[in-house]
Amino acid sequence: MSSSSLQGKRVVLVVTGGIAAYKTCEVVRRLRDHGVEVRIAMTTAATRFVAPLTFAALSGQPVVTSLFEGGSPEEIPHVRWAEWADMLCVAPATADFVAKMAHGVADDFASTLSLANAAPTLVAPAMEDDMYRHPAVQRNIATLTGDGVAIVGPATGSLASGRTGPGRMSEPDEIVAAALRVLRHGVIAADLEGQHVVITAGPTYEALDPVRGFTNRSSGRMGFELAREARWRGARVTLVAGPTSLVPPAGVRYQPVRSAGEMHEAVRSVAADAEVAIMCAAVCDFTPAEPADAKLKKGARDRIDIPMVRTADILASLGTSAERPFLVGFAAESSGLREHAVEKMECKNCDMIVGNLIGGADVGMGGHENEVVILDRQGGEQQVGRSSKADVATRIWNAIARFREQASR
Ligand code: CTP
Repeated sequence: MSSSSLQGKRVVLVVTGGIAAYKTCEVVRRLRDHGVEVRIAMTTAATRFVAPLTFAALSGQPVVTSLFEGGSPEEIPHVRWAEWADMLCVAPATADFVAKMAHGVADDFASTLSLANAAPTLVAPAMEDDMYRHPAVQRNIATLTGDGVAIVGPATGSLASGRTGPGRMSEPDEIVAAALRVLRHGVIAADLEGQHVVITAGPTYEALDPVRGFTNRSSGRMGFELAREARWRGARVTLVAGPTSLVPPAGVRYQPVRSAGEMHEAVRSVAADAEVAIMCAAVCDFTPAEPADAKLKKGARDRIDIPMVRTADILASLGTSAERPFLVGFAAESSGLREHAVEKMECKNCDMIVGNLIGGADVGMGGHENEVVILDRQGGEQQVGRSSKADVATRIWNAIARFREQASR
């Protein structure tokens, strides 16, 4: 991911009193790796978990823990800090701090700063599962979402008490990815709240025998980023993915599959109630007609012909379903991009198609970046220049939101 566009961006990080505060150290380090400047405010409780000196050393800035620290009265540090910030991030956010933010309580430096802040805000809750499930906490989180605050996590896993459940602070990777997203594109709209989104990703693997098979270079990254962005926007996400080495984004329902046939079955079983389906997978079009049960021996032959049969077209079959979701396809082409993409959109009955040219190191299939054109069935066209797949995912969801909003008028 290119860090240049984030050079000099400024994040105020509020650390509140949870055991997960130690993971926030890593968040600071990684944000700084991207060229982001970080200032840290800690609640008194947070200082019981990690020493302010640790955060001062990691951020290269003094850490503030009290409203009445050092500065002269005219400085009003909470206001200065709020003005300085391009973004406010609270990690970990305890149930208490979430409640303060939701109700506008300002009784220490961290909460006063949060109230003075007008920049986009990201909150990573961390608490025990029974606290997280409590209606009061759920209400407070819903209030924050309604106020335009982006919530990342919490994840489900082992908690400080030794129990397992939802409430664990998201991993640093996830928090940093969300923070970079907010810094690059601003507030995350909760425009998919309550909707079910189905995404396919990665390659498929078509077995020839127990050890060999046909596949392609797709890494799955584009589909995983689409799933991550959809989750941040509030969707319930099902991610059906062929073999990949990627870690699924937090909070999505992950369904790993292998072959085109398995992918088709998985999509069929989950797509009925989907509002949006994005078919991003590079599905093998053919599969060996008769995969061998035992490893094929080369014997004396000097060539081999392998009969292959067509796989089902998952996208096209969704396109003909009665309760068709808003349908987005991908078209990877080596030439004639626009023309082939439009043709695929029409014959597979999609609402939108994302086309990209294959080729170029680290761009498109298998790479970290992508360069695409987004076409819709109303004739709309948007070019997205070479950018990280996370950025491209944000733009695709923006285009989907715009199109659906116009269509509903
Ligand atoms: N697709 C699918 N099932 C298949 C083949 C493709 O769902 N069996 C979907 C892909 O996920 C993508 C779109 O169809 O969204 C276009 O895929 P692509 O491989 O570019 O096109 P094909 O239809 O396979 O045509 P061709 O390989 O001839 O370019």
